[in-house]
Amino acid sequence: MGRRRVGLKSIAVVILLTVSGVGLADVSGMLKLCAGCHGEDGRGMTAEMPIIAGQPAVAQEDAMFAYADGDRTCGDVPMMCKSAERLTEDQIIELAAHFAAMPWAAAGEEFDAALAEAGKTIHDRDCAICHVADAAGDGDFPILHGQRKDYLRHTLQQYAAGERTQLPVMEKKISALASEDIEALVNYYASYRN
Ligand code: HEC
Ligand code: HEC
Repeated sequence: MGRRRVGLKSIAVVILLTVSGVGLADVSGMLKLCAGCHGEDGRGMTAEMPIIAGQPAVAQEDAMFAYADGDRTCGDVPMMCKSAERLTEDQIIELAAHFAAMPWAAAGEEFDAALAEAGKTIHDRDCAICHVADAAGDGDFPILHGQRKDYLRHTLQQYAAGERTQLPVMEKKISALASEDIEALVNYYASYRN
């Protein structure tokens, strides 16, 4: 999607890591750090964690670059952004490929059927053009179906409040939503089962 940013900051990180003798491709130590929150299986240790196992690599890379650049904040979990800041571009690509190679499996959380139906209507109208008809991702766009409810709700609220960088087209759609619409979408995405 051409949104990869290799600025002065990344170059400074490369120099720092090279000087301290950390191999660029050595991500095994990093994986331990990631697993502390995301789990070895990439499905998250708590309900607030996004599932990253099976999430397209491009979407994960974009997220990591956004955390590292401060375009996306980490709220109550600053360690996530700090982890991203410490990584080189190569390491980000390698870690994203690692988790993307795992199978996606829906969280299978409870949902309200009426809200889910309303959410499907909104998704098909406003979101399917990018996130595809069943929100299963298409290689570049993140998978939403079966993602954890708490994470989705928090994320959509952040987008709606303009607190997280997003594509202008998506911003237009999300800023037009009422809070009931967000809850409907969250329940729709939660309704997926593997
Ligand atoms: C201290 C806990 C913690 C650690 C350590 C951590 N993460 Fe995260 N990660 C989170 C949380 C919480 C979020 C969601 C933050 C938000 O609200 O955007 C997240 C989000 C992400 C996302 C974005 C997911 C999406 O759907 O957009 C990716 C990708 C990711 N983490 C990968 C990693 C990798 C790779 C590592 C190891 C280098 C790592 N994380 C380390 C807690 C952590
Ligand atoms: C123009 C294309 C486009 C449209 C329309 C769009 N999105 Fe997105 N969406 C994206 C892209 C690209 C990303 C990932 C990059 C980012 O976070 O900016 C994303 C990210 C997301 C995420 C975060 C996923 C994660 O794992 O963190 C959510 C949630 C989301 N979109 C929901 C929606 C909803 C709900 C709608 C409709 C109201 C919508 N999007 C419309 C392109 C779009």
